[in-house]
Amino acid sequence: MPIPKSHYLSEVWKDGIFDNKVVFCTGGAGTICSAQVRALVHLGANACIVGRNIEKTEAAAKDIATSRLGAKVLGIGGIDVRSLESLEAAVKSCVKELGSVDFVIAGAAGNFLAPITQLSANAFKSVVEIDVIGSYNTLKATLPHLIQSAAKYKADGKTTLKAGTGGRIIFISATIHYTGLPLQTHVSAAKASVDALSTSVAIELGPRGLTSNVIAPGAIGETEGMERLVRKEDVAAFEKEIPSGRYGTVKDIADATVYLFSDAGNYVNGDVLVVDGGGWHRQGTS
Ligand code: HXC
Repeated sequence: MPIPKSHYLSEVWKDGIFDNKVVFCTGGAGTICSAQVRALVHLGANACIVGRNIEKTEAAAKDIATSRLGAKVLGIGGIDVRSLESLEAAVKSCVKELGSVDFVIAGAAGNFLAPITQLSANAFKSVVEIDVIGSYNTLKATLPHLIQSAAKYKADGKTTLKAGTGGRIIFISATIHYTGLPLQTHVSAAKASVDALSTSVAIELGPRGLTSNVIAPGAIGETEGMERLVRKEDVAAFEKEIPSGRYGTVKDIADATVYLFSDAGNYVNGDVLVVDGGGWHRQGTS
């Protein structure tokens, strides 16, 4: 059964705002990223999602394509973001099949709970490599196309375009490192670095028309991440601690993504959009 629009997109957005745009997304078969891409595709974009698991990635692409008649969604499995070469090959296929890369979502991440006393050096390195090097590799592989897309937009001499904008990247981070959290040393170190990477891109490439921003999701329900981090029996108590009183949904993150890639987000650059119901303000206090 097709996933209903209400699951991944608010009613406030206009169909067609991303016509002729192409989004490239790592970790695109994951619960959050697939909703982000589904929302963009619903609103007109075509997409290329990449992931490590071949079957899962191809199935997710097929499924996302059902969100709009005529949508083209490429699913390329066997891609580990720790390998720049494999990402470059995927980007090449994306451009060959879909014509450009206008938007990028660097979403691939790794996480598990581990006390620092038991965290092996290799475990720490694995998460840093997936999150930090993986985000960098995603940027590196797509950058020439993002620059081209942004230049097209700038050459029009317009501040807005009917069909959205180009040359935009969103890194998916977290809020863990704002306060530090037990059992999350590796992720805290990695996500702080992802935030810094995004800011640097914004500062250096803003003058060329690119925007680089971070979305920092809080606790998002029905995700592999939260299933790993919070036991089922603890969910209700966890939700009580969030000022908005609930887990976030994938729609909350997809809406934030649409905002940042749309004309409405034109002047947002080098920012971190925290989408967490206010959760991080009380993080670690109980
Ligand atoms: C301690 C662990 C561990 C665990 C793996 N390791 N799991 N250590 N506790 N639960 C250690 C291994 O023992 C090994 O170290 C090292 O990590 C590498 O593990 P591998 O399995 O060989 O590596 P790899 O296949 O690359 O796996 C990477 C991974 C894995 C991050 C460890 O969990 C993974 O692939 N995850 C991807 C999916 C995922 O995590 N999604 C959730 C993202 S959610 P040694 O020393 O033994 O060699 C998210 C949200 C964050 O990011 C924000 C939440 C609020």
